[in-house]
Amino acid sequence: MSDEDIKIHRGLNNVYFDRTKTTYINGKEGVLEYRGYNIHDLSEKSSFEEVSYLLLYGKLPTKNELDAFNKSLKESREIPSKIIDIIRSIKESHPMDVLRTAVSALSAFDEEASDKSYDATMRKGIRLTSQVPTIVMAHNAIRGGKDPIEPSKELSHAANFIYMLDGEIPSDSTASLMDKDFIVHADHGSNASAFAARVCAGTQADLHSAITTGISVLSGPSHGGAAENVMKMVKEVGSPENAKDYVKNLQKSGERVMGFGHRVYKAEDPRAAQLQEGVKFLSQEKGDPSWYEILVAVMDAMKPYQRRGIHANVDFFAGVIYHLLGIPTDLFVPIFAVGRIPGWTIQVLEQYKNNILLRPLLSYTGEHQQEYIPIENRK
Ligand code: ACO
Repeated sequence: MSDEDIKIHRGLNNVYFDRTKTTYINGKEGVLEYRGYNIHDLSEKSSFEEVSYLLLYGKLPTKNELDAFNKSLKESREIPSKIIDIIRSIKESHPMDVLRTAVSALSAFDEEASDKSYDATMRKGIRLTSQVPTIVMAHNAIRGGKDPIEPSKELSHAANFIYMLDGEIPSDSTASLMDKDFIVHADHGSNASAFAARVCAGTQADLHSAITTGISVLSGPSHGGAAENVMKMVKEVGSPENAKDYVKNLQKSGERVMGFGHRVYKAEDPRAAQLQEGVKFLSQEKGDPSWYEILVAVMDAMKPYQRRGIHANVDFFAGVIYHLLGIPTDLFVPIFAVGRIPGWTIQVLEQYKNNILLRPLLSYTGEHQQEYIPIENRK
């Protein structure tokens, strides 16, 4: 078949490659559901632990089921001391590089690493959900010249994460905002990192390999890296009255405004709406409304883009929340990964359940029938 006869789906845009029962996204109307439950209900009424259970097991837990699930999560928070040694040896690297390396190395200490059965993969997914926050915060302490703070066995997932930052138990409102952030990041269909994790699982590789793949893919600025860049942008904008010119200048130079646009959402990203409320609240609580005001001014300046389906995405508000919580900018993408482990795990489980090697085609447009010239005769 010649290249002209081939329909190329660059970026696999609008291509369905399988079916899922986990996450529903309606990009036109800005709807997101996990297992049929609307993200707004889950963000406002549930917890990250309950949402993780919902994603992994396909139903909301009973009280006893949630208690048992919470217990397994809390019991899995520690990481082996040899992982801490690895983190120490690479402490100067970007936190995403450290996380990727540490998750990959964890497989050497996980007795079920190569067991791809449903039950073992589920147990590993639960362990990784708990271990990933410990890795992120252990690295943050070590690079700051401190000893890692032992994870709590009492606090919720979100409260424990903030606790490991500086040893202070966060207020209920702060923990609940972090919890909401983890909920909205927990899964998102066939985004680039989940797709990559599925490609990995499609070869029958194990969960640690698939999650290491997901972390690698998440690190790019077009995907998870946007929150970090949004924070840089907000600092560059400096004050609300500069927002219009800032956006205009980016437009002139053909650059993108970070935290805007989405491959699937052409209406408002419902996760962004949830986090917008969070930034507003936190700015007021911290007595520093300037960050929220800059975000609102950038959104106003971006209004003309809405006609083209470009709206604020989840990363637009996440960065300022983390900043106001005192979290260093380069931990923004790892935080995304902390929330995404249950999502990657269930996508790998779905892939295993009805597995097929994911192997699309490339249409070759290079030369043919080239004559092989010995190296001494080449010019
Ligand atoms: N600012 C300005 N223009 C934009 C933006 C933006 N943020 N996003 C898309 N556009 C424009 C493009 O320039 C392009 O214009 P053109 O048709 O005139 O060339 C058009 O919209 C389509 O852009 P594509 O890159 O083809 O759209 P795609 O769906 O592939 O892009 C992406 C999605 C990569 C997220 C893009 O919107 C982007 O780069 N956004 C900024 C980075 C970002 O915020 N990423 C986080 C995404 S959310 C997440 O991963 C959790």
